[in-house]
Amino acid sequence: METIDTLQGHSWQSNGTDKKGIRGFIILYKASRLFCRTSMAQPLFRTPKGTNDTLPAYHQYMTYIKKAVRHRARQAGFKRIDTPTFEYRAIFERGIGEHTDMVEKELYLVSTKETSDEEADLSLRPELTAGICRAYIEHGMQQLPQPVQFYAIGPVFRHDRPQKGRYREHYQFDFEIIGLKDPSLDAQLIHLLTKIYNDIRILKNLRLQINNIGTGENRLVYIEALKEFFIGKERNLPPIDQGRLQTNPLRLLDSKEEDTQIIIKGAPKLAQFVDDDSRQYHDTLCSYLSALNIPYEDNPHLVRGLDYYTQTVFEFWDRSAGAQNAVGGGGRYDGLIELLGGHPTPGTGFASGMERVIWQMKEAGVKVPQKDQVDIFVAQLGPDAKKKCLTLIAHLRDKGIHTIGALGEASLKSQMRLADKFDATYALLIGKMEVKRQTIIVRNMKEGKQEEIPEDQAIERVIKLLGEGSLDTYTHRDQMTPEFDQD
Ligand code: HAM
Repeated sequence: METIDTLQGHSWQSNGTDKKGIRGFIILYKASRLFCRTSMAQPLFRTPKGTNDTLPAYHQYMTYIKKAVRHRARQAGFKRIDTPTFEYRAIFERGIGEHTDMVEKELYLVSTKETSDEEADLSLRPELTAGICRAYIEHGMQQLPQPVQFYAIGPVFRHDRPQKGRYREHYQFDFEIIGLKDPSLDAQLIHLLTKIYNDIRILKNLRLQINNIGTGENRLVYIEALKEFFIGKERNLPPIDQGRLQTNPLRLLDSKEEDTQIIIKGAPKLAQFVDDDSRQYHDTLCSYLSALNIPYEDNPHLVRGLDYYTQTVFEFWDRSAGAQNAVGGGGRYDGLIELLGGHPTPGTGFASGMERVIWQMKEAGVKVPQKDQVDIFVAQLGPDAKKKCLTLIAHLRDKGIHTIGALGEASLKSQMRLADKFDATYALLIGKMEVKRQTIIVRNMKEGKQEEIPEDQAIERVIKLLGEGSLDTYTHRDQMTPEFDQD
């Protein structure tokens, strides 16, 4: 039976065949039919498998994380970059590696009804690093003072088997430092990520794993040694790993196949092939992490699944779940820019999946500020009252008061019921009498108490009741450098 967990916390199952499952399904089905008949239509379409709608309550978490990301990025001199959600597929094939899972199995190819030859080579991005490196080359950024520091936030697409924390579209925040190589840069990046995790209060549930996988040359020698080790043992490997032995023998290291896992125990270890420079680099990086008071675990088995990594690799794991569903990860990619046609240029970076971060926040009981609360619900009766309400609503909003209004023809009683449902703090009522008397009724929705005041005092009164501190206004700084939470 396939269970797919959705972001909103529900899970649904398909292909259930056991009796309990069927009985449960019938009850659920009847209940849903009843519900549909009384309140809503059965949806004709659903989100594609492995994708999610980001509903408003979930957005509160997204916004909270993005704020922490942007704040830490500004502090450390990272600039925002956005690259297209689709790119020439060769960028990913060359960069990430033709025989990695991400390219071999998970790439979404883009086509149109009349696809030209050029367009036939496009694919949705499965990650952000390769596109950012392409942009670095394309815009001649090697002419800028180095290193160039970027951050990006956006969706990526992988045709993975959907399960908890593994989606076909997910959001990442991503940081890259390009153009200079020094272990202090890797240390700064890791420090920055720990700061973000600390800001959103999940750091204590994570543990940092770190390794040095050596240079590209080290790995080539290691691959030869692996191939030699498997001579005469190929027939004992399952077919899938026999194929991998030909195309990408490193993938045998994290194979899920039991037979492979047994054989691989006797194979040479990558650590034996890492050169002295890389070892030295790693020791220096670890000493910097200690100086920054960042706890880490040296993990010689950590390799990560992308071909572009050289030397440093790291991941943040959930304390209890381990390698499964890493919350964030990255490493050094000193050969990537050259592979994509640029001058030899070092780089290092990381990405973290927003959905996994939010899961961690929920697990840790982190509450995020609810900024969509309704302060005022404006209710009216009659055409003159409606006209007054329109301008009143506009003025209230201008003052930074979250205001909604029922401008339909419903009775005052049903408008009050609506105000209750929207959880408004206060309601302002203008009926025919109030229009005549040029007054407004201010009703405290929680206490049910109300007062009638002159209409020209309404805004002042509401601000006093809500408190100046709760007004949602642009600050001077915001106006000079507008930032939007929505993207
Ligand atoms: P990655 O480890 O493939 O690295 O992905 C980064 C993060 O994205 C993971 O740690 C995880 O939180 C999240 N993630 C990955 N796959 C999924 C999925 N199917 N569903 C939900 N979340 C997922 C990269 O993407 C590299 N580009 C990181 C990097 C940047 N290396 C250097 N610079």
